[in-house]
Amino acid sequence: AAIVEHSFHVQNLTVRRLCSEQVVTAVNGSLPGPTLRVREGDTLIVHVFNMSPYNLTIHWHGVFQILSAWADGPNMITQCPIPPGGKYTYKFKLLQQEGTLWWHSHVSWLRATVYGALIIRPRSGRPYPFPKPYKEVPILLGEWWNANVVDVESQAFALGIPPNISDAYTINGLPGDLYNCSENKIFKLKVQKEKTYLLRIINAAINNELFFKIANHKMTVVAVDAAYTVPYVTDVVVTGPGQTVDVLLTADQEAGSYYMAANAYVSAAGVRFDNTTTRGIIVYEGAPTPATPIMPRVPAFNDTPTAHKFFTNITGLAGGPHWVPVPRQIDERMFVTFGLGISICPTCLNGTRLSASMNNHSFVRPASLSLLQAFFFNVSGIYTPDFPDTPPIKFDYTNASINVLNPSLLITPQSTSVKVLKYNATVEMVLQNTAILGVENHPMHLHGFNFHVLAQGFGNYDPIKDSKKFNLVNPQSRNTIGVPVGGWAVIRFIANNPGVWFMHCHLDVHLPWGLATAFVVENGPTKESTLPPPPADLPHC
Ligand code: C2O
Repeated sequence: AAIVEHSFHVQNLTVRRLCSEQVVTAVNGSLPGPTLRVREGDTLIVHVFNMSPYNLTIHWHGVFQILSAWADGPNMITQCPIPPGGKYTYKFKLLQQEGTLWWHSHVSWLRATVYGALIIRPRSGRPYPFPKPYKEVPILLGEWWNANVVDVESQAFALGIPPNISDAYTINGLPGDLYNCSENKIFKLKVQKEKTYLLRIINAAINNELFFKIANHKMTVVAVDAAYTVPYVTDVVVTGPGQTVDVLLTADQEAGSYYMAANAYVSAAGVRFDNTTTRGIIVYEGAPTPATPIMPRVPAFNDTPTAHKFFTNITGLAGGPHWVPVPRQIDERMFVTFGLGISICPTCLNGTRLSASMNNHSFVRPASLSLLQAFFFNVSGIYTPDFPDTPPIKFDYTNASINVLNPSLLITPQSTSVKVLKYNATVEMVLQNTAILGVENHPMHLHGFNFHVLAQGFGNYDPIKDSKKFNLVNPQSRNTIGVPVGGWAVIRFIANNPGVWFMHCHLDVHLPWGLATAFVVENGPTKESTLPPPPADLPHC
């Protein structure tokens, strides 16, 4: 195993997109930032120099961070932010997982431009559980505003209303030629006929699930969220923000050029969203240049059947590298509702603002000390260990017209509630998407662990009927689950890593509204199950 060391210089970068110039925050002068390549077992060391005007942290999305919770990165959860002019070194091992992950800023909406790929290949000498691809290509799907994203977020928050929608989607930072002034801002991939490519697709968008398609070509899914899957052939990939999908693409069509395209999947009715399409182009080497490359037929924005088919047809590669069997004995059963409501906000324009909650708790980040420091140093008053295992009242979860009239559902109290878990506890969570103030889809992300997705469906979860649908043999393993709109998903994980692990909606519009909680996983009995002290350079608040 090797030590892989990088420096991130985070600073202003002026870029030209969609007919105008923007000053954005970016890493090492590039957008997206650098692709980090490691092998399973390696140690990654990243020195982050914050030369930007903002508070900053970097999160390594999906990394298990075994005994290295101090390097996880969510703002005020595992660390205080790195102030402008400050620095912090993230150091951790990549263990027991391989595939595609990514890194992003975990403060405000800065991740719109502070992000990049993190690729974990097998240890040297170990093969992929699929034929070796000729080349590997990261495909980062992003979202672009003709504005400063930090301002977009804070204005919306102060007004208590939904934020402005984005102006474009991007592929590897480029919007593609369907947008104004963007003819040359298009991602191009050259391929050789009959060769197979591994596309490492990352949804780094801020607020949208996305469809991804390539004209005339099928793709074979071989991994999601850095966990191998049974090969699954599809003509469309669907991803929620935070999710990754690895696909094999064989250049087996007539030599020519073909567009790849991504557009929004929005399942909720009446929501404003960016309904544009980004595209890139695949060109066969030596092909005659045709007048127009072929465009894929992209799904309609509300094509829930296509999304649901993709999400439910993926199965884990049971017995493959790093496969973990589904825990059968459950220590902690949780039923967690989440959705949108209203919070009292004296500083907001109308005295209230939109909010989001889990089990009717709207999460507020602590201000003076991170949760992890509070846990490690036993500081009281930072969080309360009272996050409930079930919603405070029972209701008809998906009946918006009734629920919106119930003040105890609509108005969500704010708190910093966490759930404390014993080391090695097995947890089953029913994630029930609710309809209160409208209904939306929520990509729920758990830090520090992958979970098995046992089943998912629409409507109210029915413990008797729906538990019969559990896949306990080869369910997909993920760190982010797109809980179906007006529906539910059941997940299980083993809390075998001490620390504080954030769980939240990966739509950045919902996170500051409070759609979050955290798990505090206690230390185990041995040195190998005890969180070491923080690094000396951990930023102070
Ligand atoms: Cu991709 Cu809490 O983050």
